[in-house]
Amino acid sequence: MSHLASPATFIGADAQLATDISTQLEAVERRLYEVTEQTRKLPDTASKHLLAAGGKRARPNLLLLTARLGDAHCEAIIDAAVAVELIHLASLYHDDVMDDAPVRRGAPAAHEVWGNSVAILTGDLLFSKASGVTAKLGPDAVRVQADTFERLVLGQLNEFAGAPEGADPIEHYIQVLADKTGSLIATSAQFGVMFSGADQALAEPVRLFGERVGIAFQLADDIIDLTTTSAMSGKTPGTDLRERVPTLPVLYVRAAAAEGDESAAEVVRLLDADLTSDAALEAARAALAAHPVTIRARDEASRWAEAAKAALDPVPEGLVKESLFAFADSVVSRTA
Ligand code: FPP
Ligand code: MG
Repeated sequence: MSHLASPATFIGADAQLATDISTQLEAVERRLYEVTEQTRKLPDTASKHLLAAGGKRARPNLLLLTARLGDAHCEAIIDAAVAVELIHLASLYHDDVMDDAPVRRGAPAAHEVWGNSVAILTGDLLFSKASGVTAKLGPDAVRVQADTFERLVLGQLNEFAGAPEGADPIEHYIQVLADKTGSLIATSAQFGVMFSGADQALAEPVRLFGERVGIAFQLADDIIDLTTTSAMSGKTPGTDLRERVPTLPVLYVRAAAAEGDESAAEVVRLLDADLTSDAALEAARAALAAHPVTIRARDEASRWAEAAKAALDPVPEGLVKESLFAFADSVVSRTA
């Protein structure tokens, strides 16, 4: 368990802070296993499948960090960190069914092991557990969780539906990312302030920070899908391309092709081919990864990380703010 409870690298600057967060992460980890306990074998094993497979625990890390703007050492902070990680976990079970993704966190996706019905029901089960933990935090937390859940679902639905007629596809896509990824990271940052007795005027700045970091995080994730190996990311590269997700590099390359860029048009031909065979997928992935649009997409991720930092202007200078800055930088520089 201990390898999962180490604080994210962005909390390396101060040894005392890193130790303190590490101790709290251990408590979060223990509670995650307790809360997901089931008496019968199938729900128990399926609930713990992705939990045990690893993961960065980015949301609990962020929450434990913003909690240091107040008194981080209270029971509610551990509960809040458990709740956000459970919501995230639940969403991954559903997401892998929707994306037909074979691998997650280096392990076979739940639907590959038990089929779609068990995977979907396990996601529901984890979400029910998250709701139980959030209920302990009171009605304000339940309200925030309900709004977050709505945004997670709408993000997925709007990604599936595509941009409405006449809308800018890039703006549409950024809103999808804000909803499907930014919303829960925003809630994590906000919960840290809400339940630590910190100055509540800081709740909105850190919420906005989380939302923008979430956009940067997902833009980086889309690039990782193109540029890393399965061994590095624990996922299957090219999944987005095969599922025809219009990620930012894809949107950029289509726009460039429409404006007459011949190299972009060649990439679009590869993307629009039948991608069922691994060879066709690899040709499309490699061509898009090598095209300058992928660098442009990475630059856009960096701009969102900078915008996230700018949202922290009202937060007092100090170790927490420095660590949040490092967190924003780490989401775009990561390779897995
Ligand atoms: C990953 O996106 C997916 C999300 C960040 C959100 C998924 C949300 C839902 C399935 C709806 C909410 C459901 C519950 C039960 C809370 P991705 O496929 O682009 O990223 P990946 O590479 O990690 O798969
Ligand atoms: Mg997915």
